[in-house]
Amino acid sequence: MPILKRSVGIVGLGRIGSRCAYSLALSGAADDLVLYDIDGKRANSEASDIGDAVAYMAHRVTVSTGDYSVLARCDIVVMAAGIISDSKDRLSLLEGNLQIADGIVDGLMAQGFDGILIVITNPCDVLAFRAAQRLGLPYGRVFSTGTALDSARLRGQLSLTTGIDHKAISALVMGEHGASQVIPWSAVTIYGRTLASLAAADARFDIPRDDIRDKVLNGAWTAVDGKGVAEYGVAAALTRCIQAIFHDEKAVIPVSTALRGEYGVSGVFAGVPAILGKNGVEGVIELRLTDAELAAFRASCETLKEKQENRSPAF
Ligand code: LAC
Repeated sequence: MPILKRSVGIVGLGRIGSRCAYSLALSGAADDLVLYDIDGKRANSEASDIGDAVAYMAHRVTVSTGDYSVLARCDIVVMAAGIISDSKDRLSLLEGNLQIADGIVDGLMAQGFDGILIVITNPCDVLAFRAAQRLGLPYGRVFSTGTALDSARLRGQLSLTTGIDHKAISALVMGEHGASQVIPWSAVTIYGRTLASLAAADARFDIPRDDIRDKVLNGAWTAVDGKGVAEYGVAAALTRCIQAIFHDEKAVIPVSTALRGEYGVSGVFAGVPAILGKNGVEGVIELRLTDAELAAFRASCETLKEKQENRSPAF
């Protein structure tokens, strides 16, 4: 059992991993951050640099470095190591990142890790499935931020278009955190009102759907084009998930988790509305999708399955 209280280990302190560490510290979501990178000097520098900010943060957080013997005692470990690229096909990163991800899982398994693993490394849906299969932890203890990030991008675009605050907009992206993802427009509501019903009375809600889908799909590359990486959005998505876990919120957040027959799909990890609490993913909410939306979601899941070596269910 983990002996560190509200502790989060982060493996891989590149731009994304270190942004995640800083976001978790600044938000007060964690009490202990344990940083690990194959470049020990980098891990040490990030720990020291974030540590320098703690005095002015709302909450005290301990930031240290540690190896797998320490990571394995954390409540949550975040897999953020891997190669990133400006290839708009995240699935193309599988070959390069599979070995890295397996090495991280091996390190945790060797130390008896029994906490929650959150995968960010791309292709995150496929790597989360593989990590879950290899770790053999109970259902829900391995998942990926997946389309939580795309869903934030969608809500951001809808907020810009309608002028309504993100928090009043219920909208999500499902399926692959990648090119085959699906926006179930039928599920988009503003305080319970569908876009179609709102648009009947106010043109503001007559949404340019194709334009917004394009902006969401390419959100990452807008960031990558100018600075080589997209980092803030995924760090915020991760932080929100970890807050929901540590506060046992039973919050519903679209993340990539094991499908066990929901939406007629099993044997794959894909972005769906999931209930997040102290045990990680504690269930999946099945939306009433249109036939076209359901078909597109299932096709996205098939795209992910094709990349999985093993097609048997993880659970
Ligand atoms: C993105 C990367 C994290 O979408 O996949 O920004």
